[in-house]
Amino acid sequence: MSIMVCPSILSADFSRLAEEIQDVEAKGADCIHLDLMDGHFVPNLTFGVPVVAALRSCTNLPFDAHLMVEHPETYIDGLSKAGVQYVTVHQEACIHLDRVLQQIREAGMKCGVALNPATPVSTLECVASQLDMILIMSVNPGFGGQKFIPYALTKIRQANELLAAAGNTNAVIEVDGGVNTKTVQSVKDAGATFLVAGSAVFGAADRKEAIASLH
Ligand code: DX5
Ligand code: ZN
Repeated sequence: MSIMVCPSILSADFSRLAEEIQDVEAKGADCIHLDLMDGHFVPNLTFGVPVVAALRSCTNLPFDAHLMVEHPETYIDGLSKAGVQYVTVHQEACIHLDRVLQQIREAGMKCGVALNPATPVSTLECVASQLDMILIMSVNPGFGGQKFIPYALTKIRQANELLAAAGNTNAVIEVDGGVNTKTVQSVKDAGATFLVAGSAVFGAADRKEAIASLH
């Protein structure tokens, strides 16, 4: 599985989002990571479905929506209509996780589940065969520019083992938070292939070089 570098626009200039997305596309990004935050599930507020829909026409790259929100089921239809490819909900935000995953797939999108640092990988055992992606959070969600939590590496390995045990050979592991030139090799070695990077890409003086260094 080839490495997908997914810049998170949380660290982009919010007054120029379309230009920022086009800039990282031109500089080698594979996918655009969209952090939807509602100010309840996480202590920060970003943007919702209308902004995602408005950005869709500025790039042909896949959109990877990371829902750090309560009641994520209310976002699925809108994200599908907006043209999003991957939708990841938080395990901690879903009372009816199985139902939400079905809803995402029925809407024609790939489904992922994100785990906060303190949430064990084993909580995904029952749904492992249905997943297209497991997102291992390597920071506590809500903000860019935080330090990578080393035990996330163990969780990436456990997520790979969980998928293998479920016979799910198609799903990918995504890692989000503190991914940069110092931590990238360790996350690749652990088995993550979708690498989210916010500050390491948008904060770099040379974004092309930054994206290349993560590949
Ligand atoms: C954090 C978000 C991340 C964030 C990562 O809650 O989910 O996607 O943008 O930022 P960096 O790469 O700066 O840690
Ligand atoms: Zn994210």
